[in-house]
Amino acid sequence: MGLDFIPQSTYQLRQPAAGLEQRNGGNGARRLHAAIIMDGNGRWAIGRGLPRLAGHRAGADAVRRTVEAAPGAGIDILTLYAFSSDNWRRPPTEVTGLMELLDLYLRKETKRCLDNGVRLEVIGRRDRLDPKLVAAIERTEAATAAGATLNLRVAVDYSSRQAIERGDIGPDVDILIRTGGEQRLSDFLLWECAYAELIFTRRMWPDFAGCDLEAAVKEFHARERRFGGVPEAPRVNGTKHASSWLD
Ligand code: FPP
Repeated sequence: MGLDFIPQSTYQLRQPAAGLEQRNGGNGARRLHAAIIMDGNGRWAIGRGLPRLAGHRAGADAVRRTVEAAPGAGIDILTLYAFSSDNWRRPPTEVTGLMELLDLYLRKETKRCLDNGVRLEVIGRRDRLDPKLVAAIERTEAATAAGATLNLRVAVDYSSRQAIERGDIGPDVDILIRTGGEQRLSDFLLWECAYAELIFTRRMWPDFAGCDLEAAVKEFHARERRFGGVPEAPRVNGTKHASSWLD
């Protein structure tokens, strides 16, 4: 499946706007905050004659692959939308299945996180979660707190509007990726995405691979970020168009 990228920008922003300072790794390399709306699990499963939960299970495998690929792609913060506050509206069997998957993920992946320097945090409300899941979250967060390679943030019972009302604001997002072909934010990191580059792909989440993450980062670097400023040099080739990651 071919990916269609825009050409490299011909000019650079002089410096980021105040408050949008770039984080640097030890070697001075630019590190990124990527956030992903993992959409398409249900359609992936239905298309294969499988129950929707099979799509979510395959989606959990895609999470593992993506977490593994993130540091190599230059990402040091990865925020994944696992369960929105609106997802409680889904059939109870699907809700229960998703919660069980999260629990299983925490139990199975904590050691791998520790081995790979991944700090896992869960963002969102906890008061509506099963106390056993909350306990598993707290155990994993405590165990992985010293992880310095990747900060993995999993959004569960998360609503950006509610988070903003609480004043619960996270780090600025550099790249927002949404799989599954829809092009909307669905109450995810609305404040933090103020200057994010939005990347939409028709790829269903269970098919998302490390090379897709790398491709998204490459597209991010090809875009010109002005933060409300002006480019250093005038445009040579007319308007830059940057929405071609749909394949
Ligand atoms: C949206 O696809 C996906 C979700 C609501 C759940 C995402 C959950 C996972 C990827 C697995 C568990 C997560 C972790 C962190 C282990 P959809 O079901 O709305 O897909 P559709 O639009 O095709 O119906």
